[in-house]
Amino acid sequence: MSEHSANPSATAAAGRPRAVKAVIPAAGLATRFLPATKAVPKELLPVVDRPVLQYIVEEATQAGISDVLLITGRGKTSMVDHFDRRPDLEERLAKKPELLAAVKRTEELAAIYTCRQPEQLGLGHAVGFAESHVGDAPFAVLLGDEFVKPSEPLLPAMLELQARTGGVVLAFFEVDPAETSRYGIASVESTGDEFAGLAEVVKVTGLVEKPSAEEAPSNLAVLGRYVLPGRVFDAIRRTEPGSGGEIQLTDAMEILRNEGVPVHAIVYRGTRYDTGMPLGYLQTVVQIAAERDDLGAEFRKWLADFVNSDASGGPST
Ligand code: UTP
Repeated sequence: MSEHSANPSATAAAGRPRAVKAVIPAAGLATRFLPATKAVPKELLPVVDRPVLQYIVEEATQAGISDVLLITGRGKTSMVDHFDRRPDLEERLAKKPELLAAVKRTEELAAIYTCRQPEQLGLGHAVGFAESHVGDAPFAVLLGDEFVKPSEPLLPAMLELQARTGGVVLAFFEVDPAETSRYGIASVESTGDEFAGLAEVVKVTGLVEKPSAEEAPSNLAVLGRYVLPGRVFDAIRRTEPGSGGEIQLTDAMEILRNEGVPVHAIVYRGTRYDTGMPLGYLQTVVQIAAERDDLGAEFRKWLADFVNSDASGGPST
């Protein structure tokens, strides 16, 4: 039997371990959000009362991963501080149990490790720094500017699929065909397999970076979640600078695919929040605020009034 099974339906009976570590590459310069991100990492921008990064770490822990490596860069070490203990603050909050619990939760969420990407030479280059922490075991990669709705999780199905195939597992979401030029787009073959009748599993036959609507092989865009086998590190070492002069993770995965490593993806049909640029960030804040138990009702009422008012440029009542 080969090291990898191309059949995603095969059970994990091969005894392959499920990934137990997550890597969050967050060393990028976040140019789409300047000047806000000149001194504040985009991963720390707040969505209501928690930074984006906390939602991402919570997504990992919800999937059973409690070991998280943050790849940081110059000026971004405050991301690690968010998960550190603050005894002084805890002391001051002794009589405010709800706030104290919220602060302590950030400290107890996961074991957070960090390493630094000294130069921003691309996502593949950043992931390469995880090798000494991860070793040759499979691991999850969660990009630091998008997350999914907790009640519609994606990562558990990806981890399960990777344990079955031993290969690369990606996630896709459907985009308007007119917008393919903003994303990495996949060509796929159906496998007929599904998770819980909800998430479709496809075999990936190729990836194209930002194709025009005419050139795009599908409308399936790459979402910022990957579950990768440890041998990706060797492929990253062999990856030449590609698009934008950067060492691309996509190119390293393509090396593996050409060497016979199976590449599958889950087509995610849940809610994805993209906080990497102002419009997506605003949409995320509004959606999450509107759904909050504590302030959702009041916020929705205010929002409806605002949208219907002269002040918003909308219809006046
Ligand atoms: P992006 O392409 O979104 O780049 O990187 P960016 O710097 O974050 O943002 P823009 O495009 O300039 O606005 C995808 C992910 O890869 C990380 C980023 O932090 C982000 O999570 N990354 C990218 C690195 O960690 N290092 C790099 O050299 C490049």
